[in-house]
Amino acid sequence: MEVISNVYQLTVFLASLSKKDSLGFIPTMGALHKGHASLIKKSLSQNTHSICSIFVNPAQFNNKTDFKNYPNRLDEDMSLLKKIGCDAVFTPSKETIYPNGVPSCVFDFGALDKVMEGANRPGHFNGVALVVSRLFEMIKPQRAYFGEKDFQQLAIIKSIAAQKFKDIEIIPCSTLREKDGLAMSSRNLLLNKRYRAAAPRIYERLLAVQNRAKNTPVSELRLWVINSFKRDEDLILEYFEIADARSLKKSACWSDFPVHVACLAVFAGTTRLIDNILLEIN
Ligand code: PAJ
Repeated sequence: MEVISNVYQLTVFLASLSKKDSLGFIPTMGALHKGHASLIKKSLSQNTHSICSIFVNPAQFNNKTDFKNYPNRLDEDMSLLKKIGCDAVFTPSKETIYPNGVPSCVFDFGALDKVMEGANRPGHFNGVALVVSRLFEMIKPQRAYFGEKDFQQLAIIKSIAAQKFKDIEIIPCSTLREKDGLAMSSRNLLLNKRYRAAAPRIYERLLAVQNRAKNTPVSELRLWVINSFKRDEDLILEYFEIADARSLKKSACWSDFPVHVACLAVFAGTTRLIDNILLEIN
């Protein structure tokens, strides 16, 4: 596996590819798990070459402690990438990504970033857009792989690609879960025993939402979720929304949109977890 950490090494790697080759790109922030691995495996199956990036992007953290505490497991990550057969890993420094400091440009995502993660983490998606745009410009892949676990992020990336990177195909990948239903996440490493035991209740409630959706109005279902978290001592709900799976506009009735998505963010102690489930009612 090629280990690339600067622009020169990246240029050499890209120049080694021929016109017939296709390059798949998997951006990550490291502390890799089976969810990340599934994106990489998909890229390996669809491209002649695959490159994964590991960069904990300071620009997308609106909370300094969250950035400082973000897990770093570079040695384990390297072993996993080699084992899977990834062709290259890009581990840039902050200076390589932002040679002139973090740019101050502001992206326009319309309504997409005004709800859920966008509303609760000011500046987060602008930071994601900055780093992904920079990585896309540097790597120029044919395909880029993103998880549905970060449903709103995927919508934002699709919007950036439609605006600025029409030649890059964005490939959505389904959420991988632990046996008990908890969505795999690098942040799960930060959960202590008590909160790890509580965390599977997040997906349990999302499944209950899916089961109840046919027979329960949207507003009633929202209240049910909010109340079930109020009764839970270990999981503090930050938001729960039911929205159009395409525009992310809030749903008032099931007939508003063909497919809805239920999204939430929860604090398990100091660790913030997000998850979602698709609701196809009509
Ligand atoms: P990170 O959280 O490391 O996730 C990298 C990619 O893996 C994202 O596309 C994410 O949606 C996907 N992913 C995470 N957990 C998953 C799971 N359980 N199943 C399937 N896919 C999963 O998302 C980011 O990094 C950053 O915001 C990034 C896009 C790299 C920009 O900095």
